[in-house]
Amino acid sequence: MKLRNFLLAATTALFTLQSQADEGMWLLQLMQQQHSIDLMKKQGLKLEANDIYNPDGVSLKDAVGIFGGGCTGEIISPDGLVLTNHHCGYSAIQRHSSVEHDYLTDGFWSMRQEDELPNDRLSFSFVHSITDVTDIVNADIKSGKISEAESMTRPYLNQLAQEQMANNELNGKPGIRAQVYPFYAGNSFYLIIYKVYSDVRMVAAPPSSIGKFGGETDNWMWPRHTCDFSVFRIYADANGEPAAYSPNNVPLKTPKYLSVSLKGLSENDYAMVMGFPGSTSRYLTASEVRERMETTNQSEIDVRGVRLEVLREAMAASDKTRIQYANKFAGSSNYWKNSIGMNEAIIDNKVLEAKAEQERQFNAFAQGKPEYQGVVAKINAAVEKAIPVERQMMYLREAFSSAIEFRSPVQVMDQLKEALQKKDNAKVEELKGQLERSFEQIHNQDYDHEVDRKVALAMLPAMAEFLPLQELPDFYVGITDYNAYVNNIYDNSILSSRANLDKFLKKPTTKAIDKDPLTAYSRSVNAKMLEVQNAGRELEDLSLLHKAYIRGLNEMKDTPAYSDANFTMRLTYGNVKSYEPRDAVHYKYYTTADGVLEKEDPTNPEFVVPAKLKELIQKRDFGRYAMADGTLPACFLTTNDITGGNSGSPVMDAEGNLIGIAFDGNWESLSGDINFDNDLQRCIAVDIRYVLFVIDKLGNCQRLINEMNIIQ
Ligand code: ARG
Repeated sequence: MKLRNFLLAATTALFTLQSQADEGMWLLQLMQQQHSIDLMKKQGLKLEANDIYNPDGVSLKDAVGIFGGGCTGEIISPDGLVLTNHHCGYSAIQRHSSVEHDYLTDGFWSMRQEDELPNDRLSFSFVHSITDVTDIVNADIKSGKISEAESMTRPYLNQLAQEQMANNELNGKPGIRAQVYPFYAGNSFYLIIYKVYSDVRMVAAPPSSIGKFGGETDNWMWPRHTCDFSVFRIYADANGEPAAYSPNNVPLKTPKYLSVSLKGLSENDYAMVMGFPGSTSRYLTASEVRERMETTNQSEIDVRGVRLEVLREAMAASDKTRIQYANKFAGSSNYWKNSIGMNEAIIDNKVLEAKAEQERQFNAFAQGKPEYQGVVAKINAAVEKAIPVERQMMYLREAFSSAIEFRSPVQVMDQLKEALQKKDNAKVEELKGQLERSFEQIHNQDYDHEVDRKVALAMLPAMAEFLPLQELPDFYVGITDYNAYVNNIYDNSILSSRANLDKFLKKPTTKAIDKDPLTAYSRSVNAKMLEVQNAGRELEDLSLLHKAYIRGLNEMKDTPAYSDANFTMRLTYGNVKSYEPRDAVHYKYYTTADGVLEKEDPTNPEFVVPAKLKELIQKRDFGRYAMADGTLPACFLTTNDITGGNSGSPVMDAEGNLIGIAFDGNWESLSGDINFDNDLQRCIAVDIRYVLFVIDKLGNCQRLINEMNIIQ
């Protein structure tokens, strides 16, 4: 599952308690202490703790890293070959695509190493070390250097990371990045040092009709037949150190890589997933669950719904637009659908009731304990005040920061006006340059002015339905005709076209700036955003209440606890398992390629099957990737506890061999980020045999298969 865009900035670190073996995103460094290694062995693990995480040597964790900014990837050869999801490599695949070289549609197979394509905005980060710094934070609180609330804030944590790195020999070395994260809602802290490689090249990707088969219709659903993988390779300088792209860089020699198992799987087999889950909120109060439903989720459902409808139509009408907006569409649609599913699942799975029961238990436990008494009531009171502010904020952001992309660099305009008034020619020239760059940024290769206009034409009236007038930007007050208002901005702004810009730059005047309709609109939007941001700042800081709530919940039970996801490396273990989504329905734990043909629909782009794949399936030309019964496995289910950020994570067997790549969650358990449901929650993975089959038989990229260590 791919990380939500905004979550990286907004990670909170609540933690939760283990209720069942399968629930839990375990911290590698605490595995022995929390006894989860014993539980894992009981479930079938054949490895020792040191094989999985070894601070003094090489272990499985060295074969897994952060792919790009929001996914996981794993190393599968001694030469730095990386496997991740198709939807994780998607933006790279898109960036290399054009109507002439459409790798989104046709796939990409590099037949020689020289054909592997560099990507200027892609990195792979290994976890170098993990150090407990809780005592240092507590000492800083005790000495008064910071307040307890400040201990969880970025400025302090960044400063602490810097201080800790000051006398570390790695400090300043290429690719080294250090960050301190709060865990268990600020009850403990770890310094994590990463080694980041920034020359990561695209090696192979199946056509979207395979890698994204089922499209938005099947997304977040089982049964699934998506071969959601892509292949990249990490390059380094001659010494194996991180370096910016250079033709002289060489494939990174990786000390640890995963072996690939073709042995196959059966129900109840041990399975584990290592990766970087982005964010869970498993210990919210019932009021906070409602807050999530009404603010983040509902705004995504409403606003993205409007935008996606416009994009869908525009993309269907033009190949150029389809390629330009492919990644934006997939990203927006992904959590639009997730929000719909989550709000439904919260109701269906009685999550509000479960949280209310948990609060009741906590309140009973808190009786007579001053540090815990009244905590829930205080959270509830604060949330009541926060909901309207957050709701407004989320809607405004979704509409005016994400959906509509055309906006004015208001500051540059203001400064330019001032420079013109002062007749400061040097300054005017400098600002003209800045304006030029703003124009290039807006009209970038993935932007179509006419598509954006259509989004605005639909969005402005829609927002008037979603929010009351006083919560909208002031420009709404005078509007009588939305079309005329929007068209004026898109036609007549200085930034509307190259011609308009050139005309202005030739003879810039303060009058033209004053008259610019885009700048007036942006000014109005910014003012409203600032107003609601300020209102947000007035809201109560809940971090200390959460810290207490979570510590209390932990004290109430005697099983080990895991911390909420915060995009740090975790391990989750469980089993291959079927499930029953509703009365009388049983979902088998795996699908086969035959299901691809069952779903085939040549009239629906999401369900087109490429001719070659169809032929291979019909001929049963599966080679060594077939199961004993002659069918080809496609996807499978496990009970592993994953969320957005885990996309691309290796699913491994009891020996640590790769058996699949995690890529999704199932519809019935989309409330899982808030409440894990053992009966319903499943991790959806693509079977590694389907992946190798596609690389081998469809892509004819045997050179990649030959690099791997394959266990038959
Ligand atoms: N739901 C999956 C995830 O979050 C897949 C997303 C990409 N696929 C799509 N059809 N948009 O990782």
